[in-house]
Amino acid sequence: MVHAAARLRDPCGRPRVHALRARHGDRAQPPAAGCAVTTDATEQEPAPGADGRAPEPRGGSSVRPTLQIEDLRITYRGSRGEIPAVRGISLTLNPGDTLGLAGESGCGKSTVAAAVLRLLPPGTEVTGRILLDGEDILAMSFGKLRAVRWAGASIVFQGAMHSLNPVHRIARQIAEPIVLHEGIGREAAEARAVELMAQVGLPAWRATSYPHELSGGQRQRVMIAMALACSPQLIVADEATTALDVMIQAQVLRLLKQLVTERHIALVMISHDLSVLADTCERLAVMYAGRLVEHGPSREVFAGARHPYAQALSAAFPTVGDPAERRNPQGLAGDPPDPADLPTGCSFHPRCPVVMDECSTTPVTLRAARDDWQAACLRVEATAGAAAAATGEDLPAPTLLTKGDA
Ligand SMILES: Nc1ncnc2c1ncn2[C@@H]1O[C@H](COP(=O)(O)OP(=O)(O)OP(=O)(O)O)[C@@H](O)[C@H]1O
Ligand code: SF4
Ligand SMILES: [Mg+2]
Repeated sequence: MVHAAARLRDPCGRPRVHALRARHGDRAQPPAAGCAVTTDATEQEPAPGADGRAPEPRGGSSVRPTLQIEDLRITYRGSRGEIPAVRGISLTLNPGDTLGLAGESGCGKSTVAAAVLRLLPPGTEVTGRILLDGEDILAMSFGKLRAVRWAGASIVFQGAMHSLNPVHRIARQIAEPIVLHEGIGREAAEARAVELMAQVGLPAWRATSYPHELSGGQRQRVMIAMALACSPQLIVADEATTALDVMIQAQVLRLLKQLVTERHIALVMISHDLSVLADTCERLAVMYAGRLVEHGPSREVFAGARHPYAQALSAAFPTVGDPAERRNPQGLAGDPPDPADLPTGCSFHPRCPVVMDECSTTPVTLRAARDDWQAACLRVEATAGAAAAATGEDLPAPTLLTKGDA
């Protein structure tokens, strides 16, 4: 689902788009005093070695992770009562890692993204830990948090037109976070902005353009330039290219990928489109009802997911050049569950085409399908997975319902 996005300003006066805020009418603020920020690992204890973490950092374990999310749980409090939108997610990204986060609408992707920069509405309960370069975002003072936003981590949301100030020229807007965070003069910051524009493929003469004079793809490039302006260690791109046509989307994705590789920036890219994520990111994490249900190497997950839900998501994207798939697209019956009223056992069991009796009563956690691959399904046998990986065999893949069966 594509959210309308509205232009907001943070306490420093910087323009910011927050799709969640736009939808729910809240302003971007840190959690209210009294909001729980504790560690609680009781509900979904990750299986040993199957906690959704990335493999050992390149260059040895001495590399400090850029982002470490530990048992993150987020509960909104709204007029309908408590909504547990995220229910125990653990993820680790090292410098230069790229992770795609996928899942149907409402599974909690943007909630995770917003939590990384503490942009959730006041009153939201957040437990667990989010460490950015070793520092706990949830425990940070607001002053420190302001310093971290843009300079430590930045977020690119979709809908660049709404996030840019219509009355300021492009270079000035890109320069704004540089002036605020690096304390340099506006002229020097605007010169840097022009360099950044060149890096994202915008000619220098565009520096004096207003947002309405740019195409959607060019505006999205401006947003990427802004995200890069203060050399962050982490960029979170939440549906950043969803609204663009496929050609421009491909250009912007290629650019983003190239820039994060060159600068060794960690990237979390959120999208419904598994094929885009598989192409852009090394690893893929699939969410369902607030939890990770699959996490592994992108292309392998896309081609041969272990979890029936992740299989259904990837089956929804036909392989280019395969006429059989084009004529027989696969889908999944039913809707995602209401987070306030989740099914017992495996949350996916009412929709699962290969459900077993025990699925509705047995809590399911991520389990190792391979050393670098986890799935939260009772059909994934940890030992079978390890053995299959060792011999190069594939695990048996459940057959999915087609749209005609639904
Ligand atoms: N401010 C809020 N107050 C109450 N509930 C919220 C709020 N923001 C999100 N939710 C609920 O939390 C759940 C997760 O929402 P979220 O926006 O994170 O999903 P998403 O995976 O990003 O979906 P989409 O793909 O549509 O963007 C949904 O059930 C949503 O209705
Ligand atoms: S645990 Fe059962 S219901 Fe859940 S995905 Fe696996 S087979 Fe389907
Ligand atoms: Mg979202």
